[in-house]
Amino acid sequence: MVIAIDGPAASGKSSVARRLARKIGFDYVNSGAMYRAVTWELLREGIDPARSESVEAALARISLDCGFSGDGEFFIRVNSELPEVELRESSVNSQVSEVSTIPAVRRLIGSRLHAVAAGRRVVMEGRDIGTAVFPETPHKFYLDASPEVRRRRRAAEGHNDSIEKRDRIDSTRRHAPLSVAPDANVIDTSHLTLEGVVEAISGILRQRGIGQE
Ligand code: CDP
Ligand code: CDP
Repeated sequence: MVIAIDGPAASGKSSVARRLARKIGFDYVNSGAMYRAVTWELLREGIDPARSESVEAALARISLDCGFSGDGEFFIRVNSELPEVELRESSVNSQVSEVSTIPAVRRLIGSRLHAVAAGRRVVMEGRDIGTAVFPETPHKFYLDASPEVRRRRRAAEGHNDSIEKRDRIDSTRRHAPLSVAPDANVIDTSHLTLEGVVEAISGILRQRGIGQE
């Protein structure tokens, strides 16, 4: 079973998905970190993300795994490295959306996401989980917040991330763009606390018999 949480940068997906998963006893999967891990590896190899043929050739050599460690944490291994803080580097922030437009990248990560969710109950967050990766799940949530609130949240975290540019590329790309699934519950988080958002989602799930103690 997959609970899909999509939305633009700093709408609160990661914080909410992690807390929700803990609350209802599901595993938490961060699909954005997969795109970041591939981008980080490409940059490490000196590959220009704008050259999709070079990226495709590199993908054939890259080994990408993900899963859950003993304590239930989602991990990503790329060419035997386990990048963590590296995934938030500014070079990754500035290139990840470009890399994410490439269909071969989306296919590779999409297949890993299906494999990691097989036979499990997961809360998975990203941009296209409810629209493209698991369109059949009835549990879809789309988080949003005003651009100003989102910019402030990122600044408060000390990131000088050009989220407008990423949002623009993510929303206008040809394959699996960021968009609201017609059957998604849309939640504007601008004036909600994290707990408030988690409460709103878990309330809806509870009515469906999910997450009841
Ligand atoms: O945490 P934040 O919302 O800033 O970004 P993220 O979830 O780590 O995702 C980083 C980037 O990966 C996004 O800006 C998208 O370009 C890409 N992405 C995607 O294309 N599809 C997904 N399901 C998740 C992320
Ligand atoms: O994953 P995504 O980029 O959508 O957002 P996030 O990394 O979960 O949230 C970005 C920042 O906004 C974090 O520091 C959250 O604590 C904060 N936030 C908040 O203060 N209130 C909310 N309702 C949602 C997020």
